[in-house]
Amino acid sequence: MNLFPAIAIRGFASILLVTWTAAVMAAGGGELLMKANNDIGNQASLQRGARNYVNYCMGCHSLQYMRYNQLAKGLGISEDQVVNNLMFAAEKPTDMMTIAMPPADSERWFGRTPPDLTLIGRSRGPDFLYTFLKSFYVEEGVPTGVNNLMLENLSMPHVLWELQGLQKPVYEEVVHEDGRTEHVFKKFEPVTEGSLTAEEYDQFVRDTVNFLEYVGEPVQLERHRLGVLVIAFLLVFGLFAHMLKKEFWKDVT
Ligand code: HEC
Repeated sequence: MNLFPAIAIRGFASILLVTWTAAVMAAGGGELLMKANNDIGNQASLQRGARNYVNYCMGCHSLQYMRYNQLAKGLGISEDQVVNNLMFAAEKPTDMMTIAMPPADSERWFGRTPPDLTLIGRSRGPDFLYTFLKSFYVEEGVPTGVNNLMLENLSMPHVLWELQGLQKPVYEEVVHEDGRTEHVFKKFEPVTEGSLTAEEYDQFVRDTVNFLEYVGEPVQLERHRLGVLVIAFLLVFGLFAHMLKKEFWKDVT
C-alpha cells in the first residue's frame, strides 16, 4: 500500500488542528479587541516605536532581556544612532535595557512594581496592547485619576494622556429576555483634547506596539523567511522521495 499520501494528509490535518487551536486561544475574550495592524517588517515604524518607548515607557518598564546594540540590527540603524537617540540610561551599547528605579520604591509609589515588558508582545499580543493603550478613561476617586477597560483597576497612570487627551466611556443599557438589564460598553467620548489627532495617536500607539512585538521575538522575520524555505524544501524533497520509492517498488509484485 502506498502510505505516503495517507501520512501527508494526517500530517497536514494535525498542522491545521494546531493552528486552529492556537487561533481560538489567542482570540479568547477578544470581542473588545481592536486590530493593531502593525508590521514588524516596517523599520521606520519600529524606529518611531523605539523612540516612543524610551521616552514614555522606560521610566518605569525595563526591557531587561534586550541589549541596546541588538536594536541596531533589527531597526536598521547604526550603533551610534542607538547610542545618541535611544540610550539615556546605560553606559555601553552592550548593556541590557534595564532601568534605574528600585523595585522597592516603585512598589511604594504604584502598589506594584511595573513589570518588565520584554515578552509582553508575546504574552498579551499586539492587538491587546494596542487596545489597552487606547482604553484609559477618567475615573474619579482613584489615585491615578484613570481606569482601563482592558485591565480594570490597574495602578499604571495614563502616561500618554497629554498626547491622546482624556476620554470617558459611554455605556448602553441592554435589556435581556429575562428582564435583566446590563450596562455594556459602547464607545469612548473625548473629555479633553490631546496634542495629537485621533489618527496620529493611533499611529503612535501602533508604532509602540510594533516595537514591543519586535522586542518579544527579534528573530520573528527571519523565522518566517526560513519557515517558507523549509516547507518548500520538504515539498520538493517529498516529491523526489515519492518518485524514488515508486521507482524502487515498480518491479516488486
Ligand atoms: C509611571 C510609571 C509607568 C509608565 C511610565 C508606564 N507604565 Fe505601564 N505599568 C506601570 C505599573 C505600575 C503597572 C502595573 C499595573 C498593575 O498591575 O496594577 C503597569 C502595567 C503595564 C502593562 C500591563 C502588564 C500586564 O500585562 O500586567 C502594560 C502592557 C504596560 N504597563 C505598558 C506600558 C507602556 C507601553 C508604556 C509606555 C507607553 C507604559 N506602560 C508606561 C507603570 C508605568
